[in-house]
Formats: sequence, structure tokens, C-alpha cells
Amino acid sequence: MFYTYWKKVDNECSVNIKASELISYFPNPKDADFFCQMPEFIDAVHRVHRLVGNAVTEGRYIIEGTGSSQLFIAALRALACTAKETTSNKKHIPVVCAEPYYSFYKEVIEQERSELYQWKGDANTFQSESGPYIEVVTSPNNPDGTTRKPVLKGEEGMVIHDLAYYWPHYTPITSPADYDVMLFTLSKATGHAGSRVGWAIVKNKEIAKKIHKHLFLMSIGSCQEGFIRATKIIHFVADSYEHDVDYMLVKPPKVPVLFEAEGLFDYGHRILALRWKRLRAIAQRSEVVSLPDFSPEFCNFKGKLTYPTPAFAWLECKTGEDAEQLTRKMKIQARNDSKFGVSVSRRYVRVSMVGDDHSFNLFIERLSSLSIM
Ligand SMILES: Cc1ncc(COP(=O)(O)O)c(C=O)c1O
Repeated sequence: MFYTYWKKVDNECSVNIKASELISYFPNPKDADFFCQMPEFIDAVHRVHRLVGNAVTEGRYIIEGTGSSQLFIAALRALACTAKETTSNKKHIPVVCAEPYYSFYKEVIEQERSELYQWKGDANTFQSESGPYIEVVTSPNNPDGTTRKPVLKGEEGMVIHDLAYYWPHYTPITSPADYDVMLFTLSKATGHAGSRVGWAIVKNKEIAKKIHKHLFLMSIGSCQEGFIRATKIIHFVADSYEHDVDYMLVKPPKVPVLFEAEGLFDYGHRILALRWKRLRAIAQRSEVVSLPDFSPEFCNFKGKLTYPTPAFAWLECKTGEDAEQLTRKMKIQARNDSKFGVSVSRRYVRVSMVGDDHSFNLFIERLSSLSIM
């Protein structure tokens, strides 16, 4: 979906890295605690969150990772280690998330078979004994696009907020998120999934240092080329909104022409809103499929009421048939709800709304023929 946008500004956004640059393991040797962090990238992250108003970053620790997937594992380890230090509890720390949940969490934890923590499935049915646990809260949620808060209220509970989709193209920005551990990723913010750039925003210094240490031990930091590119791209996005405010007095823009481009968040929201409109039109007259309803909210970034336009459609099959089989018959690739922790239903499938135009048009075409059957 983002390809068309970036193609238009290819030249303004390219980066050139010389053979002699980025040779050292350590981009920031002066900071003894966070020596693998690239200061320019951290500045860009502060800037874009200040601009969008989707997360508090002042006074917080920002930690780079190879995608937010790597940061998720590092954050789990850091939290679980901290919980183990303060308790004589020998058991694994349970990790839960309300269903339907992003399947990666379960898969990665089960694959790892850690001594520290164990996947315990749906937060709604988790029998919380007293003691520490980790709840993952994805908001807006993958797969169903809902806005979420923690389900559990235990005193020793710790929460990882995965805010991959808390950007104005997917959802109204209602307030700056200000949680203990928050994860963001370039893959959902700008579409550059291949750069493998993610960041965690963490309140507590000891937790931040533990996350950093785990990342260091996993991969001695992240590939710096990706972060150079991400820095350029994030500033480009921010420049297109901030060219007329005080920020530019401090840092004048180098390429004035870029302000003629539509801002990325407006582009993303415009495309997704149009796609959702087409999909809803089909669902409304369909006997076979339906979609979740979302209420509009005031988006502080856009300064108006907007509807959520999630990255995925959580399609329900109303006829009682297995939803994945039904969509497969129509050559629509979709993942059924059992992959997202829904135990009994098979009534839902997740379909991507952020693919390229051609795939989306095909999806709409095929779904319309299904819907009138
Ligand atoms: C909720 C959520 N978190 C994290 C990720 C992965 O992010 P990254 O590409 O930074 O590893 C995804 C990818 O689909 C996701 O849906």
C-alpha cells in the first residue's frame, strides 16, 4: 500500500552510505548504558511522536531493535528477569493476551521454551493466581482492529503494550500513550518492513538497560544501515507536516519541494478509508459475510472526528461455514481465527487491507462474487 507513496519521492528519500561509514559495532560509545543506539535515530523517534501525539517520549528510554519482534522477546526477558529477582517463585512467569491475538506472541514463546516464561493463552480465561505475570496488549489490535486495555488487574502484573498500529492512518489518535513498555515499528508506521526497524519506549531505566543488554547479547545491536534509512524516512514524514511551524526555524528544510507531497499519514488514511468503504459496501449487502463496526473518535492529530481504518479486516462468515474454507474457494488468502487464539469458532478470517492496489482490487472483486451467492 505504501509503495505508491514512496515511489513518488524516491529521490528525496534515498540514503547514501559510504564504504568507510558505520564500521564500528558501537554508534554511541559515549553512552555507557546504551552504546549500541544511534543518537540521530533516537532524535527522529522523539520528533515523530511529538508531531503525531501518539506516545510520550520525554524522559523515557528509547531502545532500537531489529523490528519490534526482536524487542518483544527482549522486553519479555527483561520483565521476566526482573520479576524473578524480586520473588522466590520458581515457576515460569505466565504470558497472556486477550484473544483474538497476534499469533506471533504464542509461536515465538512456544518455540523458545524459555526457563523464564511460558505462554498461557487468552487473558480473559487466565486463572490468575497471585504473583507476577505478563500481559500483552495490542492496540489497535491485530487481527480485529479494536482498541484495547489490559484485561487483568493483578498487583504484580506487567504489561507490554504493542502499539504497532497506533498511527493516524489506522486509528484516531486520542491521547499520547504513556505506558511502562511500549513497542513501535517502522513496518507499520511507514511500511518499510524490510528495514527491520523497531523501537521500545520504556519508563524504567533498569528495565531499559535489561532490554538493551538482551539485544546486545542476541545480536550486538541492530544493523545500523536500517536505522540511517529509518532516520531519513521519519524526518521526511515529519518535515511534510512541520514545514510551517517553529521547528523549521531550528532546522530549516533542505528540500522544499517535498512539502508539495501529501503527508504520509493523510495518504495512508485516505487509501485505507477508501478501501474500507468499498469493503463495507460489499458486507452491507451480503448474506454471507459481515465486518466489525467501529465508532468514530476525535483524532487529535487530524483535528477532527475519524473512523478507525485498521490494517486488517476481521471478516465473519454468517452462514456457519468454516470461513477459511469459504474464502479459499474464492481464491482469497486469509487466516482463520484459530491462528489468533479463538478456540472453537472458525467463523472469522483475517484479511490484509494494506496490500498493493492490484491484490486489494482482486480481493474486492472475488469477495463481491462470493457475497451474492
Ligand atoms: C501487532 C504487531 N506487532 C508487531 C509486528 C511485527 O513488527 P516488526 O516488523 O517490527 O517485527 C506486527 C507485524 O505484523 C504486528 O502485527
